[in-house]
Amino acid sequence: MARILLGVSGGIAAYKALELVRLATAAGHAVRAIQTPASTRFVGTASFAALTGAPVLIEEFERDPMRGAFPGQSAPDHDPLSHLQLVANADVFAVAPASANTIAKLATGLADNLLTSAALAATCPLLVAPAMNDAMWRHPATQANIATLRARGATVLQPGVGRLASRGEAGPGRLPEPAGVLEAIETLLAGAPAAAAGQPHLVGLRVLVTAGGTREPIDAVRFVGNRSSGRMGFALAQRAAQLGGAVTVVAANIALPRDERVTYVDVETAAQLQEACAASFERCDILLMAAAIADFRPARSFSGKLKKAADERMRVDLERTPDILAGLAGRRRADQTLVGFAAEHGEGAIERGREKLARKRVDAVVVNDIARADIGFESADNEVTILTATGETHVARASKADVARVVLDAVIAMRARVGSPDPAA
Ligand code: CTP
Repeated sequence: MARILLGVSGGIAAYKALELVRLATAAGHAVRAIQTPASTRFVGTASFAALTGAPVLIEEFERDPMRGAFPGQSAPDHDPLSHLQLVANADVFAVAPASANTIAKLATGLADNLLTSAALAATCPLLVAPAMNDAMWRHPATQANIATLRARGATVLQPGVGRLASRGEAGPGRLPEPAGVLEAIETLLAGAPAAAAGQPHLVGLRVLVTAGGTREPIDAVRFVGNRSSGRMGFALAQRAAQLGGAVTVVAANIALPRDERVTYVDVETAAQLQEACAASFERCDILLMAAAIADFRPARSFSGKLKKAADERMRVDLERTPDILAGLAGRRRADQTLVGFAAEHGEGAIERGREKLARKRVDAVVVNDIARADIGFESADNEVTILTATGETHVARASKADVARVVLDAVIAMRARVGSPDPAA
């Protein structure tokens, strides 16, 4: 059970912070709330005080009757400075909702009220749950501030998409649902080690990975398949989970050990993989399309087992499958990061990878040369080149776990880069 310091800043979503407190205290956490003056115009301190069972402070020089202690903790015998003692006692500082103004102050290190002073003094992990109008969220200033906070190791949750407070407005900017905010706080506390150490991480982000190779049935027992083992996809999923991401793997025919932190959706065919991706794509922040998906499938498959025909030949007609990644990219949001994988054979691999980067409208393509027998399919090692719009990184032969590490570092770096070309624009 943890001590959660909750910073509430101004915005209509402040009412949702009450539900967050209710859920957090019901889960056994001790919560103290501090509010910005603007937030009290939306929700008064009495509500937070009632739900936390502790006084709520607004001003920096206000005396804290509990002297910085959390419920269940005994107060010190001296009278400490509130903004220092509250953060010294906290296991995590969660700012929810975080307005555009408060985010800007956190990014620049301004300390003009209790919440921002406390943030500056905090050495515990910082989680920021933004909530604002969609134009304010999209503004380059806000995006730059978010990138600064993320680069500094803060966990910034992706706002929800949907109806906003002002009449008729919809888009990104909604405070993530309180249960989701609590889940992110708990993940952070459970120790995504990178996040706890203030290093880049994926806490608060949803990662969708496809892995393995699809099988397209010819009849009840035979299929058209490929040699993908799913090792690369599983290594990516494991690394993403280690970095604190909420990971779902759409697994096509993989018989490998599974990670208990990851959710798996098993599929066999390209059509099933497409359906599973469609169900999770909108909610995901990062898509890693590592599966080897059939480009062709039997135009019809037989429900029973085909018998040997009298003649020496048998013909299977193949039809094209849809390009699933390109289809998802067509309805992507600018804040999503999409990574394709290209299995290329021999010379010209990088050029063909670059062509795929543009054609599939993704942020990166990870190219591996399947002409080499010692890496790639079925092997424990891989050697890849990560192509982005701005450059390329070659990863020399390494275990798939190490390659996954570099790929996810590149994804995090790309998300932190402000003003990078936006394929969705
Ligand atoms: N992919 C996909 N749907 C398909 C085929 C591939 O979403 N029907 C995805 C793969 O998961 C991978 C990327 O597209 O992330 C590149 O796949 P690849 O087969 O190498 O590229 P293609 O576009 O099929 O090009 P080609 O076969 O001409 O090399």
